[in-house]
Amino acid sequence: MSIKLTDEQLMIQSMVRDFARDVVAAEAMQRDKTKTFPADILQAMGELGLMGMMVPPEFGGSGADTVSYVLALSEIAYACASTAVVMSVQNSIVCESLLNFGTDEQKQRLLPPLARGQAIGAFALTEPNAGSDPVRQSAKAVRDGDHYVINGTKRFITSGKNADTVIVTAKTDDAARHKGISAFVVGKDNPGLIVGPEEDKMGLRASDTTDLIFEDCRVPAADRLGDEGAGFKISMQGLDGGRIGIAAQSIGVAQAALDAAVTYAKAREQFGQAISKFQGLRWMLADMVTQIEASRQLTFSAAAMKDRGENYSMQASMAKLFASEMVNRITATALQIHGGYGFTKEYPVERFYRDARVFTIYEGTSEIQRVVISNHLLNDKRVP
Ligand code: CAA
Repeated sequence: MSIKLTDEQLMIQSMVRDFARDVVAAEAMQRDKTKTFPADILQAMGELGLMGMMVPPEFGGSGADTVSYVLALSEIAYACASTAVVMSVQNSIVCESLLNFGTDEQKQRLLPPLARGQAIGAFALTEPNAGSDPVRQSAKAVRDGDHYVINGTKRFITSGKNADTVIVTAKTDDAARHKGISAFVVGKDNPGLIVGPEEDKMGLRASDTTDLIFEDCRVPAADRLGDEGAGFKISMQGLDGGRIGIAAQSIGVAQAALDAAVTYAKAREQFGQAISKFQGLRWMLADMVTQIEASRQLTFSAAAMKDRGENYSMQASMAKLFASEMVNRITATALQIHGGYGFTKEYPVERFYRDARVFTIYEGTSEIQRVVISNHLLNDKRVP
């Protein structure tokens, strides 16, 4: 590993690695099979300080840096990608948006339970007809005295069913394009917030993904996050951090697939010797480890830029693009190395393959990452 990690970062990595491999991995296969949300594990992760890692201690968090967060999230993803996506949305988007845009009162009230794992957070931007282009969302929030009334449907919301705190965006001014979108914090006890159908997904099956329906949902004006019209900026900034999270998740799953492939290749004998002795297979493994390391360095680089307070938007997209495409190649190759056994549920590699598939899609598709990267590179923003 070429960057020099501090003693504290190494300690966090080692602590989370032990926890992930002992506790999180134990029932991962079973949770995937039964679509069981890892509620107890997430609570334990909260107690370990993993659910609000970058939240300062004054608001109940760990006050860690983004590099430590990348290390921890990769370790959780190594054990269970479903658990990792809940951790990623909670840390990168929900807690960070509250931290960066919340009032002091909102931070005092909302961050400690999230950071301690006593509450789960969700981020509701996507709609049935507004995925890559969230500016054209149709949810509306109309001011009514000291409340807003929100109406609309949000789709593919990670933790939609299990979330206690939802950050939702809605239009407060139809004519003002992205400047007409505002963000609000809604509690799950709000009678106007209805949990819609749960998706039956190919992967990440232990993490729930649902519609969230807002039906005359009255939200106190004090629960608006940031200024009126700031919702798109809040979302884009949240997604910048989120994309580092998805890159970290990709690294964890890819490393798990590589380790499984190495173990299998050493044990499996064909033509009178371990298949790891064949050059064709050795070269596959060499390419895999090299691609994982390249993704890791790109992700550390984006995380370090964020920690230094630099504009890291382009680097986050580069890390997310490269790492999410990488993990899809790595899990496919790892499955190939397992031969027919890779296609069965006897080995975890088929789960890695299924889980990784969405990484090039959520928190901005690979195509959207290329839009962001090329806009930065050419500095002449074009219509996506
Ligand atoms: N940080 C802060 N501000 C930003 C920003 C950023 N990273 N990116 C853009 N902005 C600002 C711009 O500066 C601009 O503001 P001004 O007019 O004041 O200068 C404004 O936002 C509009 O920017 P653009 O004109 O570039 O916006 P656009 O409509 O062309 O869209 C886009 C750009 C990159 C395509 C964007 O729409 C996008 O990222 N789309 C993908 C959405 C996405 O990732 N969805 C994922 C859903 S969430 C999810 O998956 C979570 C989960 O549950 C796992």
